[in-house]
Amino acid sequence: MPDHRWGVAGPGGIAVRFANAMQLVEGGHIARVASRSPERARAYADAQANGAACGSYEELAEDPDIDVVYVATPQTRHAADTIPYLEAGKHVLCEKPFAINAGEAREMVAAARSNGRFLMEAIWSRFLPSYRSLVELVTAGAIGQVLRVEADFGFRIPVDPQHRLFDLERGGGGLLDLGIYPLQLCSLLLGTPDDVEAVGSIGSTGIDEQVAAVLHYGDGAIGIAKASIRVNTSCTARISGTDGWIDLPAFMHCPDHLVVNRGSGPERIDATYEGDGLRFEIDAVHRCLDEGLTESDVMPLDESVRLASTLDTIRDRIGLVYPSERPA
Ligand SMILES: NC(=O)c1ccc[n+]([C@@H]2O[C@H](COP(=O)([O-])OP(=O)(O)OC[C@H]3O[C@@H](n4cnc5c(N)ncnc54)[C@H](OP(=O)(O)O)[C@@H]3O)[C@@H](O)[C@H]2O)c1
Repeated sequence: MPDHRWGVAGPGGIAVRFANAMQLVEGGHIARVASRSPERARAYADAQANGAACGSYEELAEDPDIDVVYVATPQTRHAADTIPYLEAGKHVLCEKPFAINAGEAREMVAAARSNGRFLMEAIWSRFLPSYRSLVELVTAGAIGQVLRVEADFGFRIPVDPQHRLFDLERGGGGLLDLGIYPLQLCSLLLGTPDDVEAVGSIGSTGIDEQVAAVLHYGDGAIGIAKASIRVNTSCTARISGTDGWIDLPAFMHCPDHLVVNRGSGPERIDATYEGDGLRFEIDAVHRCLDEGLTESDVMPLDESVRLASTLDTIRDRIGLVYPSERPA
């Protein structure tokens, strides 16, 4: 199998984790790093990527030796970064949230399809042993029909206008960065909601500091998704069915076990793993590329568009508009 040559676009916090995870995966390595600053690219390449080549975001697109790009820039840039890489013939793994809104998400998907390239949103949770076990259990009917998914992700960060999460220009706020995890769990198990209600607290920098959404489904199911960047929350999830329930302990986006309750006492399902959990999504990308697939059936592109659309609806309910979306 080929050794996939990755380019990293945006050598920030998550890109460091990505490089650590890459060390644990067969079939690929980071060959080039793109930054707005040659010094930052060089520092990342030397410290994280075995002296990989460096360049600008544009140079990465032109490099014929790169076959797949990891887009790890702020979400306001995801579409603007991803589409040129796809048009240059690269495959792309794009960080979550996939795009700032559903319109941009659709443009990204159209670019992947028209260029015949692989594209996936980096919802790494879905590739973890815990989530694979969860899907198997639910599909096998372990807790009957799922009628409720409740999930919560939040941690306290002091208000800091310089911090990405508090910056409207970089798509900050709890919803897009943290809320995506509870919402993707609802979507994974319940599908697309028929109706969405939400409340949120918009803070002094204009982003949502807290948000809570209730999702209604046609079959009577309900999803409850909460996120906060102002308080520490339980960061757990519970999936309730007609014959029992499954708990995802903290952190619900990357638990190392599940607890299944079917009336005969709790049953712990171990789902531990070594190293950084991003390794599983990288491995999945390699397998898709090796098989010539242009999307993953674990995290399909239509699912990313649906999630972006649900995020749009919640933002509409709480009155959060990003600057790039405002009429000129
Ligand atoms: N999967 C996960 O668990 C996870 C965790 C954290 C974050 N994320 C996602 O990953 C993305 C990056 O998050 P992060 O925490 O790594 O952010 P970060 O530390 O701020 O890094 C973002 C990088 O993007 C580059 N960049 C390009 N244009 C920029 C601009 N206009 N403003 C700021 N930076 C710009 C910067 O590199 P140069 O300035 O050198 O070009 C910077 O290093 C976000 O979409 C976030 O939601 C995912």
